[in-house]
Formats: sequence, structure tokens, C-alpha cells
Amino acid sequence: MIGLKVQKNNADKIRRVLLNHSLINLDLKIKRVDDFVYIPLIFKPNKKLMEEIKVYDVKIVNTEFEIHTKGPKSLKDYLKNKIDPDLVEEIKKSFDIIGDIVILEIPEEFDEYKYTIGNAALKFTKRKTVYRKTSEIKGVIRTRELEHLAGEDVSETIHREFGSRFKLDVKKVYFSPRLATERKRISDLVNNNETIVDMFAGIGPFSISIARNHKVNLYAIDINPDAYKYLKENVKLNKLEGTIIPLLGDVNEVLNSLSLEADRIIMNLPGSAKNFLDTAMNSLKSGGEIHYYEFASEYQVPVKRIIETAYPRKVEVLNTRKVKSKSPGIWHMGVDARIY
Ligand SMILES: C[S@@+](CC[C@H](N)C(=O)[O-])C[C@H]1O[C@@H](n2cnc3c(N)ncnc32)[C@H](O)[C@@H]1O
Repeated sequence: MIGLKVQKNNADKIRRVLLNHSLINLDLKIKRVDDFVYIPLIFKPNKKLMEEIKVYDVKIVNTEFEIHTKGPKSLKDYLKNKIDPDLVEEIKKSFDIIGDIVILEIPEEFDEYKYTIGNAALKFTKRKTVYRKTSEIKGVIRTRELEHLAGEDVSETIHREFGSRFKLDVKKVYFSPRLATERKRISDLVNNNETIVDMFAGIGPFSISIARNHKVNLYAIDINPDAYKYLKENVKLNKLEGTIIPLLGDVNEVLNSLSLEADRIIMNLPGSAKNFLDTAMNSLKSGGEIHYYEFASEYQVPVKRIIETAYPRKVEVLNTRKVKSKSPGIWHMGVDARIY
């Protein structure tokens, strides 16, 4: 193989000159021997260039170079010649990374490739575990079935988000990393000394994001005993400015027994939060705010519902937004409203 031998203190200069002339063979590795550097070439430099660089005491040599072994850089590279690249793009969009765990979607017709895809995802993400979604999110506690594809079959992990740490078991509780921005948005609206209710707290991501940054009194309620268990652990795992009071049970019963006058209520149960709007209104002081979520095609639907439930109280709609897509045409819609 043809190369250029140069003293090591001149090597960088010469390498740049050769690069500018597109003469370096980039498939081969530059090698160093004693005080010399050997640069692999595609062609010999022409006479003119050799004249230019000969002051650096360069020499054309025939020598061996190692080949660059380029590792795959993307999931597409890992699955090259195995899976249709369009399918790889689809799978990538479905990726959720929760701590050490990757959760992805594989259409049923590609079942035979599931372990190939799982192993590629494991290598590509450098996480410890890969699961495949095998059901929708369902039931009162909002969990889904998962099939183990690659890595360790360990479903408990710690997820990091804007400085918060959330311990959870992906098989036993609801958690979506796709709500990170929404949690940050809500947390940024909070003032010190507020009394807050997180009606469907899960493992506590909204509650913890808020209480890490504000001196508040926050009642975090969930009906799922596993979510409640992790909620309590997460309260200890994070350094909080405020106080979180974890409560296990049905939110209607818990709030009825507390008779709170909250400044702010978070209602992140978009499939059925509408059934709990009455309870929220009863626990919200005049001028208090709700952050209400509903699966809907347009924001007018949840807004109308809030206005009708609040009546005769007045409603000031502060913000409406599409938080994330649920299915074609249907959004996880968010409404912030002040109720007088
Ligand atoms: C969509 S998850 C949201 C969890 C959390 N807010 C988050 O963002 O990760 C809804 C949660 O509501 C809880 N839940 C459902 N019905 C409930 C009820 N009647 N009372 C209290 N919690 C309830 C479920 O157990 C689940 O953890």
C-alpha cells in the first residue's frame, strides 16, 4: 500500500495539505512508528505538490496499513440488509427510552424479525433492556403488556428528567417520557406557598418536578398501590423544596375526606379525567387553576366541558395545547383554566 512517511512534528501540517488535495485513503488508519507518521494515500502526490512539501522531509513508501473498522452509527446501519429501511424508520419513531429500558413497537407482520430488531436496538441505544409493546395502555391503572426482546428482563429502572429522578417498574405503573416538556411547563407556572393536588399522580413525575423547584404543599394521589410505592420512594430520591403528601386511593374518596381548598389541580388522566371534573371544582379555591387533559380532536371539546362543569363559576381559559398525538386526528389535549 502506498503511503507518505513524515516526521511526527510535521505530520499534522502535511495531513491537512494531503486532505485538501483529497489524497488520503480514509478507509485506512494512519500509523505511527517511532518518530515517524505514515499517512495512507490513494495516489502519489504530483511533482508540483512534492516540490511544495519536500522541505518537510517527506518520503513516499510502500507499507501496510490497517483498515478502519467503522462501527454502525445508526439503527439503520445495525439492521442493514436485514430489515426494510422504511420499517426501521417507523420503529425508531416508536422508541421510548425510560432509564435503562427501551420500549418499542414492531408491527405484527414483522414478528419474525423481533429479536433481530430487539438486539439491534439494545446495541444502538446502549441500554440494558428492550421490550416490545404488545397491548394498548389499558385499565384503571393505565399499564400495558410488554414482551421481552433483548438484554436483561428487568423492568425496574431509574429515569432522569430535567434533574429529577424517577424510579419505576415499566410493567406495573404508567410512565411516559414524552410528557417531560409538559411537566416542565406546568412546574414553571407554579408559585411558592401554593396548595396543589396531583389527582392522578402515578409515580409522581408532575409532583416531583414541581416540589423540587417550589416551596409548595402538594397532595399526590393514586389508586395503583405500585405507583404509590414508587411515589413514596421518589419523594425520598429527590431533594425537594416543597412537601409532597403521597396518598393511596380513589381520588374522589381521598379528596372528599380532606376538604381541601387548592390553588392548583393537575388532572393527567386524559381518558377519563372528565368524570372527576366535579370533584376538582369542589376542591379548587376561587381564582385557582386546573391543568386538565383529555383525548380529543379539538380543544373546544375539553374547554366546553370545563365551562359546563364549573357553571355558575366563571372560567378563564389560560392556555390550550396539543401535548402529544394519541392516534390519527386525536390528541392528548391540555387546557389550563382559572376558575372563579
Ligand atoms: C395517565 S396516568 C398519569 C400518571 C402521572 N400523572 C404521570 O404523568 O406519569 C394516570 C394515573 O391515574 C391513576 N388513577 C386512575 N384512576 C384513578 C382514581 N380514580 N383515583 C386515583 N388515581 C387514579 C392510575 O393508577 C395512573 O397511575
